[in-house]
Amino acid sequence: MAYKRLTAAEAAALIKNDESLGLSGFTPAGVAKAVTKELAKKAVAEHEAGRPFQVRVFTGASTGQSTDGDLANAQALKYRAPYTTNPDFRKHVNMGEIPYNDLHLSHMAQELRYGFYGDLDWAILEVCDIDEGADVCKAYLTAAGGISPTAARLAKHVILELNAFHNPNAKYIHDVYEPLDPPYRKPIPIVNVGDRIGKPYVEIPASKIVGVVECNIPDEARAFKDNDPVTDQIGFLTAEFLVEEMHQGRIPKEFLPLQSGVGSTANAILGALGQDKHVPDFNIYTEVIQNSVIEMMLNGRVKDASACSLTVSNECLMQVYDNMDYFKDHLTLRQSEISNNPEIIRRLGVIAINTAIECDIYGNANSTHISGTKMMNGIGGSGDFERNAYLSIFTCPSTAKGGLISSIVPFVSHQDHSEHDVNIIVTEQGVADLRGKSPAQRAQLIIEKCVHPDYKQLMWDYLKLAKGGHTKHNLPCAFALHDTLARKGDMRLTDFAEYVK
Ligand code: COA
Repeated sequence: MAYKRLTAAEAAALIKNDESLGLSGFTPAGVAKAVTKELAKKAVAEHEAGRPFQVRVFTGASTGQSTDGDLANAQALKYRAPYTTNPDFRKHVNMGEIPYNDLHLSHMAQELRYGFYGDLDWAILEVCDIDEGADVCKAYLTAAGGISPTAARLAKHVILELNAFHNPNAKYIHDVYEPLDPPYRKPIPIVNVGDRIGKPYVEIPASKIVGVVECNIPDEARAFKDNDPVTDQIGFLTAEFLVEEMHQGRIPKEFLPLQSGVGSTANAILGALGQDKHVPDFNIYTEVIQNSVIEMMLNGRVKDASACSLTVSNECLMQVYDNMDYFKDHLTLRQSEISNNPEIIRRLGVIAINTAIECDIYGNANSTHISGTKMMNGIGGSGDFERNAYLSIFTCPSTAKGGLISSIVPFVSHQDHSEHDVNIIVTEQGVADLRGKSPAQRAQLIIEKCVHPDYKQLMWDYLKLAKGGHTKHNLPCAFALHDTLARKGDMRLTDFAEYVK
């Protein structure tokens, strides 16, 4: 049977003020985007007519302009979780307009199931193909796993966006699996990066399908900055460190699966590892696959890859669809609670490499907040991976904004990852291996190896001022660099004498 066809505007018209939506996708990849764009227009019209219109939105991770951007600009978001990277959304969230809950990405689907967020009214899933059964609908996802099966199961109504931009071939790389909840949850039986444990489609009772919106809209993947000498040096140092770990026997000769965050530093690290002849061909177990991984799969450097999304350029996505004979056996897209699952990350011995906004001299890391208060993006999967990895690595350039900011500070202005979860910090200055070190030893090492020369003396001065027991601090001076930046625009102008009573 054929399900009812709706235009995106007709679908948006069905959604009422204060309802909750669960969307497909993870990063802009695979996000439902036809109906949300119309919803933003509807919100503007409703507001002009003096009526309230806002929705609560849950996704796998970030989305794109047609979702977070347009809805934020239309003041249409009553609530949003879990992660977003959209600049318009960032602006509105930092104006205090949107209640935004930034949680570990592996937690989103299960917390929806646990009922922490109330009922889900709608699931809107982007699909590349539909088996329009009379009783059961089989919905084939596009470029991401996200929270789709959970959203479809919990929602009262489901809208499918059948997006012709995606090739129906996308179905061959999905492994759709939703764990049971405690006390019935079973071990998740993934023991190799490429293991598949679920089905290639999301199963939905046909009675829930309100309609299908046919569209043809490209994915809205954002462009990352190109590598520069700083990110290249971080990449080189990280690769060199991992090779030495292998030579020392602390990484087995077969190597271990890698997780690598998003952005140019992540690309530089993967590029450096790919080029290092001492590193054997390796596997990727991560949440986001970027262009560089697809290139390395095609040239054989990466054997198998598992992720939640293909966050690649649209040209690269087409390359995957066109080479499905190869990729169907080597690439698997999973739900975010599986790609980022602590049980699997620890079992596989994943090496996690993520970028921090700032780290402190004791090894705490801030991934989310600029100067402690302004949201950048969110924690993403960095906590899922860093907490549970075989080796937890944070990288960042030693300075930001042309040297006005030191990325290594006495005390992080916001903490996402504690000293207990961080093994290694890498800046372009060097590598601080914190394993087995006391707080005092960590501080010495981080200052010696990672701090930019412009800030070294300031950090040594802080250590002299720091007092106390196990972890020494001088609380009036702990945020002196951040305060000086706010007052004088340059952390290098910090004078601790202004803070010591
Ligand atoms: N203080 C103020 N601003 C800082 C800063 C600091 N200590 N460090 C970086 N910034 C600014 C940069 O100047 C840049 O600003 P711009 O956009 O105006 O140029 C911006 O933050 C992003 O920094 P950039 O160097 O371009 O880094 P990136 O693209 O590698 O992103 C994070 C870094 C931390 C924002 C990003 O990795 C992130 O969102 N991480 C959290 C989620 C995550 O780790 N996911 C990984 C699992 S896939």
